[in-house]
Amino acid sequence: MTRKRLIAGNWKMHGSFAESRQLVAALRDGVGAEDRALMLLCPPYVYLNAVRDWLQGSNIALGAQDLSDRSGTGAFTGEVSGAMLRDLGCTHVIVGHSERRALYDESDAVVASKFKAAQQAGLIPVLCVGETLEQREAGHTQATVQRQVAAVIDAAGVAAFGKAVIAYEPVWAIGTGRTATPEQAEEVHALIRAMIAERDATIASGLPILYGGSVKGANARSLFAMKDIDGGLVGGASLVATEFLEIFRAGI
Ligand code: 13P
Repeated sequence: MTRKRLIAGNWKMHGSFAESRQLVAALRDGVGAEDRALMLLCPPYVYLNAVRDWLQGSNIALGAQDLSDRSGTGAFTGEVSGAMLRDLGCTHVIVGHSERRALYDESDAVVASKFKAAQQAGLIPVLCVGETLEQREAGHTQATVQRQVAAVIDAAGVAAFGKAVIAYEPVWAIGTGRTATPEQAEEVHALIRAMIAERDATIASGLPILYGGSVKGANARSLFAMKDIDGGLVGGASLVATEFLEIFRAGI
């Protein structure tokens, strides 16, 4: 099955209103109607509404970086629900980014709840998984990623992966300039796909699995050439229009 590539930009907590507007304008100019790949922007919550407006009429999709694990409405100060994100035109939402897991103590159970909350709201969750350097050096890469994926399969069921994306982001490669080699990444991507295929081969073959961790214009093409790498979740390089467009073009 040919899977459409997804080239997603995670802006994290970067940029001002003015910088966001400039970045979106430059990206719009560089993205036409592509069959092979979709560009997705995930700005901070507070800029979602503006970015939605700036993207009107373009082929670029909008997503958020996180969401509440609670559905509906309620007394949850500071939280943003999936329904609110949908309301603003988001199609995707990142869940379980390693920064949320490490800095905000998000457990596998919380990540699974967020994954389910996203789907209940009609959003496509981009589930992030990946090992730390310590885990890799101890030979625990496979076990770590399998545990993270299994927690969501157990909670949401394998069928839920028919409307989801997984992003493999080795923590040691995030923001470090130390990209996983295409072979290192492919090994884990293939493992993830095999885990899903054990339960449902059709869902596994349609599931987009992105790589994230120091993706740049210069290394994107060799990563995307691997059989099970279906695009990228890009941090730093997604804040520079020329660089992000180069990555996008590597995907088409
Ligand atoms: P960098 O591309 O800056 O390494 O960040 C990757 C990432 O965490 C995307 O979610």
